[in-house]
Amino acid sequence: MMRQKISSNGPTLSRFALGHMTVFEDEMGASADRIKEKVDTCLETGITTMDHADIYGNYLAEEAFGKFLKANPSYRDQIEIVTKCGICLLSDERPSHTIKHYRYDKTHIKASVEKSLTNLATENIDLLLFHRPSPMLDPLILSQACEELKAEGKVNFFGVSNFTSSQFNMLSKFVDLHTNQIQASPLYLDHFLNGEFDLALENQFSPMLWSPLARGRFFKPQTEQESRLVGCLTDLSKKYDCPLDVLIYSWLLSHPSKPHIILGTNKIERIKSSSLALKISWDIQDWFAVWTASIGQEVP
Ligand SMILES: NC(=O)c1ccc[n+]([C@@H]2O[C@H](COP(=O)([O-])OP(=O)(O)OC[C@H]3O[C@@H](n4cnc5c(N)ncnc54)[C@H](OP(=O)(O)O)[C@@H]3O)[C@@H](O)[C@H]2O)c1
Repeated sequence: MMRQKISSNGPTLSRFALGHMTVFEDEMGASADRIKEKVDTCLETGITTMDHADIYGNYLAEEAFGKFLKANPSYRDQIEIVTKCGICLLSDERPSHTIKHYRYDKTHIKASVEKSLTNLATENIDLLLFHRPSPMLDPLILSQACEELKAEGKVNFFGVSNFTSSQFNMLSKFVDLHTNQIQASPLYLDHFLNGEFDLALENQFSPMLWSPLARGRFFKPQTEQESRLVGCLTDLSKKYDCPLDVLIYSWLLSHPSKPHIILGTNKIERIKSSSLALKISWDIQDWFAVWTASIGQEVP
């Protein structure tokens, strides 16, 4: 099934989300028409969730998407918007920043959301994620900001990204958190091993996975681990009769936490074929063949 509730009382999102971090790397440009073409492809494929962050595209990606939404307002009801706040980049778009840092005081969170709403040309955000944990995050202050944003109708649901289990558990005592957006791919297994996937199972939410294709490293392998994995996945892609990217998505999707995957591709054909991954059912030994190829040895 393409759409599911991300947690028992959370928003319904599609199992694939289109990521907008690299919208300006699209060879076809980032015009409203080009973004519409990609969103149309998503909707035809059943993908309804759009993943943003205030900082993407040097703070300009949300605005590019907003231009598309402004020109096509009827799309707002057909999609869910996820965006993030908390990272403050050194950028000519933010001249007051003198060092890269994180900010979770109420003033910053609320101002960041206001900017996202204006840039995205929307009245509310479906899911707001706190982008990275900060040693200076005060959960009481953050929860006040969340309550106000919810009461004002500006944000429907909250979650986090890149939080450890203990950071998630701490914050969830103050704010109703519906997901943790984390890095995962056959080339990056850390969160399978350090408790982040366990946290999702324990709390019965689905994690959102970023860089599922390790930023394209499967397609130009350089390290031994990459070559081993590409060899194994190429063999399996023949058996499962699908392209490498689809096979990798399906390997991740088959985890019991029922993850959501964030697509990083800007290619229409690759967006279209991604959903084939939902149809693949993994043989457990094949699943472990990929794991084994990644860690470079038999499981203990
Ligand atoms: N929460 C966080 O901290 C965080 C961090 C990073 C990213 N994210 C989110 O996750 C999204 C995805 O991340 P990502 O961009 O790193 O995703 P990714 O899927 O790991 O990498 C995308 C890259 O792989 C290439 N690619 C895809 N399929 C390919 C194929 N069949 N052959 C060759 N190259 C291929 C794409 O190029 P083409 O465009 O040419 O297909 C693109 O350059 C982002 O847009 C963002 O929304 C979140």
